[in-house]
Amino acid sequence: MLEIVFARGRIGAGVIKVIGVEEKNRLSSEHLNKEEIKNLNKIAKQNKFSGKQGTFLELNSSKGKLLVMGLGKNPNALDLQKLGGMLYNKVAQTEVVQYLVSAIFGSKLSKTEIAHNIAFGVLLGSYRFDKYFTQKKPDEYPSLERVIFKLEQGEKATEEFKPYAALANAVRYGRDLCNEPANYLTPQVFADDIQRLSYLGLDIEILGQQELEEKGFNLLLAIAQGSVKEPKVAVIKWKGNPASEEWDLGLVGKGVTFDSGGISIQPWSGMEEMKADMTGAAVVVASLKAAALQCIRKNIIGIVGLVENMPSGNATRPGDVVTSMSGQTVEVINTDAEGRLVLADCLWYLQDQYGAKKIIDIATLTGAIMRALGGEYAGLFCNDNKLINDLLSSSDISGEKLWHMPMGEEFNKKINSDIADMKNIGGALGAGSTAACFISRFVQKNTKWAHLDIAGMENEKKGTPITPKGATAFGVRLLNDFINHKI
Ligand code: BES
Ligand code: MG
Ligand code: ZN
Repeated sequence: MLEIVFARGRIGAGVIKVIGVEEKNRLSSEHLNKEEIKNLNKIAKQNKFSGKQGTFLELNSSKGKLLVMGLGKNPNALDLQKLGGMLYNKVAQTEVVQYLVSAIFGSKLSKTEIAHNIAFGVLLGSYRFDKYFTQKKPDEYPSLERVIFKLEQGEKATEEFKPYAALANAVRYGRDLCNEPANYLTPQVFADDIQRLSYLGLDIEILGQQELEEKGFNLLLAIAQGSVKEPKVAVIKWKGNPASEEWDLGLVGKGVTFDSGGISIQPWSGMEEMKADMTGAAVVVASLKAAALQCIRKNIIGIVGLVENMPSGNATRPGDVVTSMSGQTVEVINTDAEGRLVLADCLWYLQDQYGAKKIIDIATLTGAIMRALGGEYAGLFCNDNKLINDLLSSSDISGEKLWHMPMGEEFNKKINSDIADMKNIGGALGAGSTAACFISRFVQKNTKWAHLDIAGMENEKKGTPITPKGATAFGVRLLNDFINHKI
Protein backbone atom coordinates (compact mmCIF):
# COMPACT_ATOMS: atom_id res chain seq x y z
CA MET A 1 0.00 0.00 0.00
CA LEU A 2 0.93 3.59 -0.53
CA GLU A 3 3.18 4.89 2.20
CA ILE A 4 2.88 8.37 3.71
CA VAL A 5 6.00 9.77 5.35
CA PHE A 6 6.61 12.98 7.28
CA ALA A 7 10.30 13.82 7.46
CA ARG A 8 12.70 16.69 7.12
CA GLY A 9 15.45 14.76 5.35
CA ARG A 10 16.88 15.47 1.93
CA ILE A 11 15.62 13.30 -0.83
CA GLY A 12 17.47 11.72 -3.73
CA ALA A 13 17.72 13.38 -7.10
CA GLY A 14 15.11 12.42 -9.65
CA VAL A 15 12.26 12.46 -7.16
CA ILE A 16 9.44 14.75 -8.21
CA LYS A 17 9.04 17.63 -5.82
CA VAL A 18 5.70 19.31 -5.28
CA ILE A 19 4.95 22.75 -3.92
CA GLY A 20 1.64 24.40 -3.26
CA VAL A 21 1.09 28.02 -4.23
CA GLU A 22 -1.80 30.26 -3.30
CA GLU A 23 -3.85 32.13 -5.87
CA LYS A 24 -2.34 35.59 -5.63
CA ASN A 25 -0.98 38.37 -7.80
CA ARG A 26 2.50 37.04 -7.31
CA LEU A 27 3.05 33.31 -6.88
CA SER A 28 5.56 32.46 -4.21
CA SER A 29 6.90 29.70 -2.00
CA GLU A 30 9.29 29.57 0.92
CA HIS A 31 11.02 26.71 -0.86
CA LEU A 32 12.09 28.81 -3.83
CA ASN A 33 14.77 31.47 -3.99
CA LYS A 34 14.24 34.87 -5.60
CA GLU A 35 15.46 33.71 -8.96
CA GLU A 36 13.18 30.69 -8.93
CA ILE A 37 10.18 32.72 -7.91
CA LYS A 38 10.81 35.10 -10.78
CA ASN A 39 11.10 32.17 -13.13
CA LEU A 40 7.92 30.59 -11.75
CA ASN A 41 5.93 33.78 -12.27
CA LYS A 42 7.18 34.10 -15.82
CA ILE A 43 6.27 30.54 -16.78
CA ALA A 44 2.97 30.77 -14.91
CA LYS A 45 2.06 33.83 -16.92
CA GLN A 46 2.92 32.10 -20.19
CA ASN A 47 0.81 29.09 -19.19
CA LYS A 48 -2.03 31.16 -17.70
CA PHE A 49 -1.45 29.42 -14.38
CA SER A 50 -2.82 31.56 -11.55
CA GLY A 51 -2.68 29.19 -8.59
CA LYS A 52 -6.38 28.41 -8.94
CA GLN A 53 -7.37 25.52 -6.73
CA GLY A 54 -6.63 22.12 -8.27
CA THR A 55 -4.60 23.36 -11.25
CA PHE A 56 -1.05 22.19 -11.87
CA LEU A 57 2.06 23.50 -13.54
CA GLU A 58 5.23 21.56 -14.28
CA LEU A 59 8.51 23.36 -13.92
CA ASN A 60 12.18 22.58 -14.25
CA SER A 61 14.23 24.22 -11.55
CA SER A 62 17.62 23.79 -9.93
CA LYS A 63 15.83 21.33 -7.64
CA GLY A 64 14.93 19.13 -10.60
CA LYS A 65 11.40 18.50 -11.76
CA LEU A 66 8.96 20.59 -9.80
CA LEU A 67 5.21 20.19 -9.79
CA VAL A 68 3.37 23.32 -8.73
CA MET A 69 -0.11 22.81 -7.32
CA GLY A 70 -2.60 25.65 -7.15
CA LEU A 71 -4.09 25.88 -3.66
CA GLY A 72 -6.60 28.59 -4.47
CA LYS A 73 -7.50 31.32 -2.02
CA ASN A 74 -7.13 30.42 1.65
CA PRO A 75 -7.98 26.70 1.32
CA ASN A 76 -9.57 25.05 4.38
CA ALA A 77 -9.03 21.48 5.61
CA LEU A 78 -11.60 20.01 3.22
CA ASP A 79 -10.09 21.88 0.26
CA LEU A 80 -6.70 20.45 1.18
CA GLN A 81 -8.10 16.92 1.34
CA LYS A 82 -9.55 17.38 -2.11
CA LEU A 83 -6.22 18.73 -3.32
CA GLY A 84 -4.54 15.63 -1.88
CA GLY A 85 -6.81 13.46 -4.02
CA MET A 86 -6.05 15.57 -7.10
CA LEU A 87 -2.35 15.38 -6.42
CA TYR A 88 -2.61 11.61 -6.13
CA ASN A 89 -4.22 11.36 -9.55
CA LYS A 90 -1.55 13.62 -10.99
CA VAL A 91 1.38 11.56 -9.69
CA ALA A 92 -0.10 8.06 -9.51
CA GLN A 93 2.12 6.81 -12.29
CA THR A 94 5.37 7.89 -10.63
CA GLU A 95 7.00 6.14 -7.67
CA VAL A 96 8.04 8.67 -5.05
CA VAL A 97 7.11 12.31 -4.63
CA GLN A 98 8.10 14.83 -2.02
CA TYR A 99 5.71 17.59 -1.02
CA LEU A 100 7.51 20.65 0.27
CA VAL A 101 5.06 21.94 2.86
CA SER A 102 4.67 25.65 3.39
CA ALA A 103 2.40 27.76 5.54
CA ILE A 104 -0.75 29.27 4.05
CA PHE A 105 -1.11 33.00 4.53
CA GLY A 106 -3.95 33.90 6.85
CA SER A 107 -4.84 30.27 7.56
CA LYS A 108 -5.42 28.87 11.05
CA LEU A 109 -3.91 25.57 9.94
CA SER A 110 -0.37 24.77 10.98
CA LYS A 111 2.08 23.36 8.47
CA THR A 112 1.59 19.95 10.02
CA GLU A 113 -2.18 20.21 9.69
CA ILE A 114 -1.82 21.27 6.09
CA ALA A 115 0.33 18.22 5.39
CA HIS A 116 -2.06 15.93 7.28
CA ASN A 117 -5.09 17.01 5.32
CA ILE A 118 -3.35 16.68 1.98
CA ALA A 119 -2.06 13.25 3.01
CA PHE A 120 -5.51 12.17 4.17
CA GLY A 121 -6.86 13.18 0.75
CA VAL A 122 -4.13 11.16 -0.94
CA LEU A 123 -5.16 8.07 1.03
CA LEU A 124 -8.87 8.52 0.28
CA GLY A 125 -8.30 9.32 -3.37
CA SER A 126 -5.96 6.41 -3.97
CA TYR A 127 -8.60 3.84 -3.05
CA ARG A 128 -9.32 1.29 -5.80
CA PHE A 129 -11.41 -1.86 -5.91
CA ASP A 130 -9.60 -3.99 -8.46
CA LYS A 131 -9.61 -7.51 -7.04
CA TYR A 132 -11.83 -8.92 -9.78
CA PHE A 133 -9.70 -7.84 -12.75
CA THR A 134 -7.77 -10.79 -14.10
CA GLN A 135 -6.45 -9.35 -17.37
CA LYS A 136 -5.07 -6.04 -16.19
CA LYS A 137 -1.34 -5.62 -16.76
CA PRO A 138 1.01 -4.39 -14.03
CA ASP A 139 1.63 -1.08 -15.80
CA GLU A 140 -2.10 -0.37 -15.76
CA TYR A 141 -2.01 -0.18 -11.98
CA PRO A 142 -0.83 2.96 -10.17
CA SER A 143 2.85 2.78 -9.29
CA LEU A 144 3.06 5.44 -6.59
CA GLU A 145 4.79 3.99 -3.55
CA ARG A 146 5.56 6.89 -1.27
CA VAL A 147 4.53 10.45 -0.65
CA ILE A 148 6.98 12.27 1.59
CA PHE A 149 5.93 15.48 3.30
CA LYS A 150 8.90 17.65 4.11
CA LEU A 151 8.39 19.04 7.60
CA GLU A 152 10.78 20.04 10.37
CA GLN A 153 9.11 17.94 13.05
CA GLY A 154 8.67 14.72 11.14
CA GLU A 155 8.36 12.43 14.12
CA LYS A 156 5.71 14.50 15.84
CA ALA A 157 3.80 14.83 12.58
CA THR A 158 3.99 11.07 12.04
CA GLU A 159 2.52 10.47 15.49
CA GLU A 160 -0.25 13.00 14.98
CA PHE A 161 -1.17 11.56 11.62
CA LYS A 162 -2.19 8.24 13.18
CA PRO A 163 -5.86 9.14 13.70
CA TYR A 164 -6.11 10.28 10.07
CA ALA A 165 -4.49 7.08 8.85
CA ALA A 166 -6.85 5.08 11.05
CA LEU A 167 -9.86 6.88 9.61
CA ALA A 168 -8.66 6.43 6.04
CA ASN A 169 -8.14 2.75 6.77
CA ALA A 170 -11.71 2.49 8.09
CA VAL A 171 -13.17 4.33 5.08
CA ARG A 172 -11.28 2.04 2.72
CA TYR A 173 -12.51 -1.00 4.64
CA GLY A 174 -16.09 0.25 4.43
CA ARG A 175 -15.76 0.84 0.69
CA ASP A 176 -14.37 -2.65 0.20
CA LEU A 177 -17.39 -4.16 1.92
CA CYS A 178 -19.83 -2.11 -0.15
CA ASN A 179 -18.15 -2.75 -3.50
CA GLU A 180 -18.15 -6.49 -2.91
CA PRO A 181 -20.78 -8.27 -5.02
CA ALA A 182 -23.65 -9.91 -3.16
CA ASN A 183 -22.74 -13.42 -4.32
CA TYR A 184 -19.50 -13.02 -2.37
CA LEU A 185 -20.62 -10.84 0.51
CA THR A 186 -23.45 -12.92 1.96
CA PRO A 187 -24.68 -12.30 5.51
CA GLN A 188 -22.46 -15.19 6.66
CA VAL A 189 -19.33 -13.82 4.95
CA PHE A 190 -20.07 -10.32 6.24
CA ALA A 191 -20.46 -11.67 9.77
CA ASP A 192 -17.21 -13.65 9.50
CA ASP A 193 -15.43 -10.51 8.37
CA ILE A 194 -16.80 -8.57 11.33
CA GLN A 195 -15.75 -11.36 13.68
CA ARG A 196 -12.18 -10.94 12.48
CA LEU A 197 -12.09 -7.39 13.84
CA SER A 198 -11.82 -8.79 17.36
CA TYR A 199 -8.04 -8.58 16.95
CA LEU A 200 -8.43 -4.82 17.50
CA GLY A 201 -9.96 -5.34 20.92
CA LEU A 202 -13.55 -5.10 19.72
CA ASP A 203 -15.95 -7.47 21.42
CA ILE A 204 -18.06 -9.20 18.80
CA GLU A 205 -21.11 -11.36 19.07
CA ILE A 206 -22.83 -12.95 16.10
CA LEU A 207 -26.42 -14.14 16.29
CA GLY A 208 -27.59 -16.77 13.78
CA GLN A 209 -31.03 -18.02 12.75
CA GLN A 210 -31.75 -19.92 15.95
CA GLU A 211 -30.72 -17.13 18.31
CA LEU A 212 -32.61 -14.60 16.23
CA GLU A 213 -35.74 -16.73 16.55
CA GLU A 214 -35.25 -17.14 20.29
CA LYS A 215 -34.73 -13.43 20.80
CA GLY A 216 -37.70 -12.48 18.65
CA PHE A 217 -36.12 -10.66 15.69
CA ASN A 218 -39.33 -11.46 13.82
CA LEU A 219 -39.41 -8.47 11.48
CA LEU A 220 -35.83 -9.11 10.41
CA LEU A 221 -36.57 -12.82 9.98
CA ALA A 222 -39.66 -12.03 7.88
CA ILE A 223 -37.36 -10.34 5.36
CA ALA A 224 -34.66 -12.99 5.54
CA GLN A 225 -37.01 -15.93 5.03
CA GLY A 226 -37.23 -15.51 1.26
CA SER A 227 -33.52 -16.14 0.87
CA VAL A 228 -31.56 -19.36 1.23
CA LYS A 229 -28.85 -17.32 2.94
CA GLU A 230 -29.00 -17.48 6.71
CA PRO A 231 -29.43 -14.04 8.32
CA LYS A 232 -26.98 -12.77 10.92
CA VAL A 233 -26.99 -9.99 13.44
CA ALA A 234 -23.65 -8.72 14.70
CA VAL A 235 -23.26 -6.81 17.96
CA ILE A 236 -19.94 -4.99 18.11
CA LYS A 237 -18.68 -3.36 21.28
CA TRP A 238 -15.85 -0.94 21.83
CA LYS A 239 -15.21 -0.28 25.53
CA GLY A 240 -12.72 2.55 25.34
CA ASN A 241 -13.77 3.74 28.79
CA PRO A 242 -13.93 0.59 30.91
CA ALA A 243 -14.47 2.67 34.06
CA SER A 244 -18.01 3.38 32.88
CA GLU A 245 -20.83 0.85 32.50
CA GLU A 246 -22.77 3.12 30.16
CA TRP A 247 -22.82 3.23 26.41
CA ASP A 248 -21.93 6.69 25.16
CA LEU A 249 -23.38 5.91 21.76
CA GLY A 250 -25.28 3.15 19.99
CA LEU A 251 -25.12 2.67 16.23
CA VAL A 252 -27.57 0.69 14.12
CA GLY A 253 -26.86 -0.24 10.50
CA LYS A 254 -29.04 -1.63 7.71
CA GLY A 255 -27.18 -4.57 6.24
CA VAL A 256 -29.33 -5.85 3.39
CA THR A 257 -26.64 -7.64 1.40
CA PHE A 258 -28.92 -7.63 -1.61
CA ASP A 259 -32.31 -5.98 -1.96
CA SER A 260 -34.26 -7.47 -4.84
CA GLY A 261 -37.43 -6.08 -3.29
CA GLY A 262 -38.67 -9.57 -2.42
CA ILE A 263 -42.17 -10.41 -3.71
CA SER A 264 -42.62 -6.68 -4.37
CA ILE A 265 -39.74 -7.11 -6.76
CA GLN A 266 -37.86 -4.14 -8.15
CA PRO A 267 -37.46 -3.43 -11.88
CA TRP A 268 -34.30 -4.91 -13.38
CA SER A 269 -32.74 -1.64 -14.35
CA GLY A 270 -30.30 -0.54 -11.67
CA MET A 271 -31.08 -3.50 -9.44
CA GLU A 272 -27.37 -4.39 -9.38
CA GLU A 273 -26.87 -1.31 -7.23
CA MET A 274 -28.81 -3.02 -4.49
CA LYS A 275 -25.68 -4.96 -3.56
CA ALA A 276 -24.80 -1.77 -1.69
CA ASP A 277 -27.96 -1.86 0.41
CA MET A 278 -25.71 -2.92 3.28
CA THR A 279 -23.86 0.40 3.31
CA GLY A 280 -25.35 1.44 6.66
CA ALA A 281 -24.00 -1.74 8.24
CA ALA A 282 -20.60 -1.29 6.60
CA VAL A 283 -20.44 2.28 7.92
CA VAL A 284 -21.31 1.15 11.45
CA VAL A 285 -18.66 -1.58 11.36
CA ALA A 286 -16.06 0.75 9.84
CA SER A 287 -16.86 3.40 12.46
CA LEU A 288 -16.19 0.90 15.23
CA LYS A 289 -13.01 -0.13 13.50
CA ALA A 290 -11.92 3.52 13.42
CA ALA A 291 -12.80 3.93 17.10
CA ALA A 292 -10.66 0.90 17.97
CA LEU A 293 -7.74 1.98 15.78
CA GLN A 294 -7.87 5.45 17.31
CA CYS A 295 -8.31 4.04 20.84
CA ILE A 296 -11.15 6.45 21.51
CA ARG A 297 -11.84 6.60 25.25
CA LYS A 298 -15.57 6.14 24.95
CA ASN A 299 -17.98 3.22 24.98
CA ILE A 300 -19.67 2.56 21.69
CA ILE A 301 -21.93 -0.29 20.71
CA GLY A 302 -23.01 -1.12 17.20
CA ILE A 303 -25.58 -3.54 15.86
CA VAL A 304 -26.06 -4.53 12.25
CA GLY A 305 -28.83 -6.65 10.72
CA LEU A 306 -27.44 -8.71 7.86
CA VAL A 307 -30.08 -10.23 5.57
CA GLU A 308 -30.78 -10.83 1.92
CA ASN A 309 -34.18 -9.73 0.58
CA MET A 310 -35.29 -12.26 -2.06
CA PRO A 311 -38.53 -13.51 -3.60
CA SER A 312 -39.24 -17.22 -3.21
CA GLY A 313 -41.91 -19.73 -2.25
CA ASN A 314 -40.99 -19.02 1.34
CA ALA A 315 -40.86 -15.24 1.11
CA THR A 316 -43.03 -12.90 3.14
CA ARG A 317 -46.14 -11.84 1.18
CA PRO A 318 -47.69 -8.39 0.94
CA GLY A 319 -50.46 -8.42 3.50
CA ASP A 320 -48.65 -10.62 6.03
CA VAL A 321 -48.73 -9.43 9.62
CA VAL A 322 -45.64 -9.89 11.75
CA THR A 323 -45.10 -9.27 15.47
CA SER A 324 -41.95 -7.27 16.09
CA MET A 325 -39.55 -7.80 18.99
CA SER A 326 -41.16 -4.78 20.66
CA GLY A 327 -44.51 -6.57 20.60
CA GLN A 328 -46.06 -4.13 18.10
CA THR A 329 -47.57 -5.73 15.01
CA VAL A 330 -46.71 -4.71 11.46
CA GLU A 331 -48.71 -5.28 8.30
CA VAL A 332 -46.22 -5.72 5.47
CA ILE A 333 -47.78 -3.96 2.49
CA ASN A 334 -44.62 -3.83 0.39
CA THR A 335 -41.75 -6.27 0.88
CA ASP A 336 -39.40 -3.75 -0.74
CA ALA A 337 -39.77 -1.49 2.29
CA GLU A 338 -37.60 -4.02 4.13
CA GLY A 339 -34.91 -1.84 5.64
CA ARG A 340 -37.17 -0.32 8.28
CA LEU A 341 -38.19 -3.81 9.41
CA VAL A 342 -34.58 -4.87 9.82
CA LEU A 343 -33.72 -1.66 11.68
CA ALA A 344 -36.76 -1.79 13.97
CA ASP A 345 -35.80 -5.06 15.68
CA CYS A 346 -32.11 -4.13 15.89
CA LEU A 347 -32.96 -0.75 17.39
CA TRP A 348 -35.26 -2.33 19.94
CA TYR A 349 -32.65 -4.93 20.90
CA LEU A 350 -30.01 -2.25 21.45
CA GLN A 351 -32.27 -0.33 23.84
CA ASP A 352 -33.78 -3.35 25.57
CA GLN A 353 -30.67 -5.46 26.05
CA TYR A 354 -27.98 -2.83 26.33
CA GLY A 355 -29.78 0.29 27.51
CA ALA A 356 -28.28 2.58 24.89
CA LYS A 357 -29.68 6.08 25.45
CA LYS A 358 -28.24 7.88 22.44
CA ILE A 359 -28.59 6.10 19.12
CA ILE A 360 -27.87 6.85 15.51
CA ASP A 361 -29.16 4.56 12.80
CA ILE A 362 -27.83 4.70 9.28
CA ALA A 363 -29.46 3.14 6.24
CA THR A 364 -29.96 3.31 2.49
CA LEU A 365 -33.64 3.51 3.28
CA THR A 366 -35.70 5.32 0.67
CA GLY A 367 -35.64 6.31 -2.96
CA ALA A 368 -37.64 9.33 -1.78
CA ILE A 369 -34.70 10.87 0.08
CA MET A 370 -32.54 10.38 -2.98
CA ARG A 371 -35.08 12.20 -5.17
CA ALA A 372 -35.54 14.97 -2.59
CA LEU A 373 -31.87 15.62 -1.87
CA GLY A 374 -30.46 14.57 -5.22
CA GLY A 375 -27.71 12.33 -3.93
CA GLU A 376 -25.99 15.48 -2.64
CA TYR A 377 -27.12 15.28 0.98
CA ALA A 378 -28.22 12.50 3.29
CA GLY A 379 -31.45 13.05 5.21
CA LEU A 380 -31.23 13.68 8.93
CA PHE A 381 -34.29 12.82 11.02
CA CYS A 382 -33.93 13.36 14.75
CA ASN A 383 -35.87 13.77 17.99
CA ASP A 384 -33.33 15.92 19.86
CA ASN A 385 -32.16 19.46 19.08
CA LYS A 386 -28.65 19.11 20.47
CA LEU A 387 -28.12 15.90 18.54
CA ILE A 388 -29.30 17.66 15.38
CA ASN A 389 -26.84 20.51 15.87
CA ASP A 390 -23.98 18.20 16.74
CA LEU A 391 -24.57 16.05 13.67
CA LEU A 392 -24.86 19.08 11.41
CA SER A 393 -21.58 20.37 12.83
CA SER A 394 -19.85 17.03 12.21
CA SER A 395 -21.32 17.12 8.74
CA ASP A 396 -19.71 20.52 8.07
CA ILE A 397 -16.36 19.40 9.43
CA SER A 398 -16.25 16.06 7.59
CA GLY A 399 -17.73 17.34 4.34
CA GLU A 400 -20.31 14.51 4.39
CA LYS A 401 -23.41 16.57 3.88
CA LEU A 402 -26.63 16.22 5.85
CA TRP A 403 -29.93 18.00 5.52
CA HIS A 404 -32.40 18.15 8.40
CA MET A 405 -35.76 16.66 7.37
CA PRO A 406 -39.17 16.73 9.08
CA MET A 407 -41.02 14.02 10.97
CA GLY A 408 -44.29 14.52 12.81
CA GLU A 409 -47.82 13.36 13.34
CA GLU A 410 -48.92 14.32 9.83
CA PHE A 411 -46.52 11.71 8.46
CA ASN A 412 -46.79 9.29 11.35
CA LYS A 413 -50.54 8.77 10.94
CA LYS A 414 -50.04 7.65 7.36
CA ILE A 415 -48.62 4.34 8.54
CA ASN A 416 -51.58 3.37 10.70
CA SER A 417 -52.95 0.03 9.50
CA ASP A 418 -56.56 -1.18 9.42
CA ILE A 419 -55.67 -4.56 10.89
CA ALA A 420 -52.39 -4.12 12.83
CA ASP A 421 -50.52 -1.53 14.89
CA MET A 422 -48.87 -0.14 11.78
CA LYS A 423 -48.10 -0.86 8.16
CA ASN A 424 -44.69 -0.60 6.54
CA ILE A 425 -45.41 2.04 3.90
CA GLY A 426 -47.38 5.26 3.94
CA GLY A 427 -47.92 6.19 0.31
CA ALA A 428 -45.71 7.79 -2.29
CA LEU A 429 -45.54 11.31 -0.86
CA GLY A 430 -43.13 12.21 1.90
CA ALA A 431 -41.87 8.63 1.92
CA GLY A 432 -38.57 9.51 3.58
CA SER A 433 -40.49 11.05 6.46
CA THR A 434 -42.98 8.21 6.83
CA ALA A 435 -40.07 5.74 6.86
CA ALA A 436 -38.46 7.75 9.66
CA CYS A 437 -41.77 7.79 11.53
CA PHE A 438 -41.96 4.03 11.20
CA ILE A 439 -38.56 3.66 12.87
CA SER A 440 -39.47 6.24 15.52
CA ARG A 441 -42.21 3.88 16.72
CA PHE A 442 -39.42 1.61 17.96
CA VAL A 443 -37.56 4.35 19.79
CA GLN A 444 -38.17 4.21 23.54
CA LYS A 445 -39.03 7.20 25.71
CA ASN A 446 -35.86 9.07 26.77
CA THR A 447 -33.77 7.69 23.91
CA LYS A 448 -32.08 10.41 21.90
CA TRP A 449 -32.21 9.16 18.38
CA ALA A 450 -31.12 10.22 14.91
CA HIS A 451 -31.83 8.46 11.65
CA LEU A 452 -29.55 9.04 8.67
CA ASP A 453 -31.17 8.08 5.38
CA ILE A 454 -28.17 7.75 3.09
CA ALA A 455 -29.92 6.37 -0.01
CA GLY A 456 -28.29 7.98 -3.03
CA MET A 457 -25.07 8.66 -1.13
CA GLU A 458 -23.68 5.14 -1.12
CA ASN A 459 -22.38 5.14 -4.67
CA GLU A 460 -20.25 7.72 -6.51
CA LYS A 461 -21.07 7.53 -10.20
CA LYS A 462 -18.47 9.86 -11.71
CA GLY A 463 -15.68 9.80 -9.17
CA THR A 464 -14.34 12.82 -7.26
CA PRO A 465 -10.75 13.50 -6.10
CA ILE A 466 -11.28 11.84 -2.73
CA THR A 467 -14.09 9.45 -3.65
CA PRO A 468 -13.21 7.34 -6.66
CA LYS A 469 -16.04 5.73 -8.64
CA GLY A 470 -18.02 3.16 -6.69
CA ALA A 471 -18.73 2.75 -3.01
CA THR A 472 -18.32 5.85 -0.84
CA ALA A 473 -18.80 4.45 2.69
CA PHE A 474 -20.63 7.72 3.29
CA GLY A 475 -20.92 8.45 7.01
CA VAL A 476 -17.66 7.02 8.35
CA ARG A 477 -15.93 10.41 8.46
CA LEU A 478 -19.06 12.12 9.76
CA LEU A 479 -19.53 9.60 12.57
CA ASN A 480 -15.83 9.67 13.40
CA ASP A 481 -15.96 13.40 14.03
CA PHE A 482 -19.16 12.94 16.03
CA ILE A 483 -17.64 10.17 18.18
CA ASN A 484 -14.40 12.06 18.77
CA HIS A 485 -15.83 15.47 19.51
CA LYS A 486 -19.57 15.43 20.21
CA ILE A 487 -20.17 12.71 22.82
N1 BES B 1 -32.96 -0.09 -0.63
C1 BES B 1 -34.10 0.64 -1.02
C2 BES B 1 -33.88 2.16 -1.06
C3 BES B 1 -32.87 2.67 -2.04
C4 BES B 1 -33.27 3.16 -3.27
C5 BES B 1 -31.53 2.69 -1.74
C6 BES B 1 -32.34 3.62 -4.16
C7 BES B 1 -30.60 3.18 -2.62
C8 BES B 1 -31.00 3.65 -3.83
C9 BES B 1 -35.24 0.37 -0.07
O1 BES B 1 -35.24 -0.87 0.52
C10 BES B 1 -36.48 0.46 -0.88
O2 BES B 1 -36.69 -0.39 -1.67
N2 BES B 1 -37.28 1.50 -0.64
C11 BES B 1 -38.47 1.72 -1.36
C12 BES B 1 -39.61 1.77 -0.37
C13 BES B 1 -40.94 1.88 -1.00
C14 BES B 1 -41.35 0.54 -1.53
C15 BES B 1 -41.92 2.34 0.04
C16 BES B 1 -38.36 3.06 -2.07
O3 BES B 1 -37.92 4.01 -1.43
O4 BES B 1 -38.67 3.12 -3.25
MG1 MG C 1 -36.21 -2.33 -0.62
ZN1 ZN D 1 -33.42 -1.74 0.78
